[in-house]
Amino acid sequence: MRLIFPFIAAVVLAGCVDGNNVGDIPSQPYSDFFTPLPETPTYPASNPFSEGKQELGELLFFDPILSGAEDVACATCHHPAFGWADGRTFSVGVGGIGLGPNRDDNGLGSITPIHSPTIMNVCFTGLGVNDSKIPSSFVSGGYFWDLRAATLEEQALGPIVNPVEMRGDLAEHAGLDDQQYLEMVIERLKNSPYQAYFDKAFGAITPVTQGVIEAVTKDNLAAALATFQRRIITPNSRFDLFLMGDQTALTSREITGLNTFINAGCVRCHGGMMLSDNLLHEDDNILSNLPAVRTPSLRNIAKTAPYMQDGSSSTLRHAVSIYVDREDLQVEIEEENVGDVEAFLHSLTTEDFYQEVPGGLPSGNQVGGNI
Ligand code: HEC
Ligand code: HEC
Repeated sequence: MRLIFPFIAAVVLAGCVDGNNVGDIPSQPYSDFFTPLPETPTYPASNPFSEGKQELGELLFFDPILSGAEDVACATCHHPAFGWADGRTFSVGVGGIGLGPNRDDNGLGSITPIHSPTIMNVCFTGLGVNDSKIPSSFVSGGYFWDLRAATLEEQALGPIVNPVEMRGDLAEHAGLDDQQYLEMVIERLKNSPYQAYFDKAFGAITPVTQGVIEAVTKDNLAAALATFQRRIITPNSRFDLFLMGDQTALTSREITGLNTFINAGCVRCHGGMMLSDNLLHEDDNILSNLPAVRTPSLRNIAKTAPYMQDGSSSTLRHAVSIYVDREDLQVEIEEENVGDVEAFLHSLTTEDFYQEVPGGLPSGNQVGGNI
């Protein structure tokens, strides 16, 4: 693999006056490497958008009713105050108190083994480097650091049955397998004000002759959670405006950083709409002491420190500096260029994204759980 690099570098830098300067203008147009983020979310045909699903999904996302002891919500670890992640190296699930870096596990050890990624832009996950527009058949995914969930719908039920994240180990749930435990959660929802929300979103009432279709189901729960998450997108960052032709949207330092990002080889994995190929890189693993994980998106990156699968980079500058002297990754970046690349990465961040927190929940539970 290493032998290929000089060839790629030669092609990218062709035409530059000084081929050794990785900050030089790339010989290909930026649109060969990146695409602006769409201004509206994309929804798969199997779970089309509806207001009812979105509203229900939002309430459930913030409601600890989905957790065993009704103390942890999805938002406990994916909160708008922390860029829809939690600002921690590892997350604290059941039995914890507090939000973000202040959250405490109360000595219970309910700590996830891996860093919580953001849910921003998850509707675009998997859009490839070459996808200049979204194919109509596009289904986003896969998800999790190891890509084990194919779709957002499949992903949504995972944390609910996870003992550390939301399920816990209450004696009254002992002996239930994952499916039985989910049935218990569904029964709980049926006996709550959420029944009416599911009916509204999924249309329970059909002619008596056909019986009543039960709207509160595992599939519909997953569909609602996924629909809500798809609304959280971050288009129109300064980098997007630059790609759309506004030359003044980036400073000259950010443009230098962008060119370095391309010429140094970052774009091989961090390209396209999401600045991610969403692939596992086992042959060129970034943190070689840990398992290979999929390339994370760099969208809205300034909002989601700390970085990497173990949260070991507390700043963006540190995350970039990991790539210095890493010929094994076919990346060529010098210490003195790290600041420029960091500056460029900041241009991928916008403040203008959905960050609302519901004022209250139908269940009467605390919004976001015990935070
Ligand atoms: C205790 C903290 C915690 C809770 C609660 C939690 N998550 Fe997560 N979430 C994580 C962690 C950690 C990961 C990464 C796990 C992995 O990759 O193995 C993750 C991954 C994800 C991903 C994948 C993102 C991607 O880009 O691959 C999505 C989507 C997600 N969670 C949504 C949810 C939803 C929906 C809920 C509620 C039903 C939820 N989470 C509850 C911590 C949490
Ligand atoms: C071989 C593919 C590949 C290349 C090339 C690559 N990256 Fe990465 N990048 C990854 C993967 C995979 C991770 C996650 C690593 C981990 O957590 O173990 C990552 C993580 C990151 C992160 C942290 C993101 C987060 O949310 O945690 C940043 C920032 C980053 N890369 C920037 C860069 C820059 C800048 C370059 C070029 C100097 C670069 N990458 C080159 C694959 C790549």
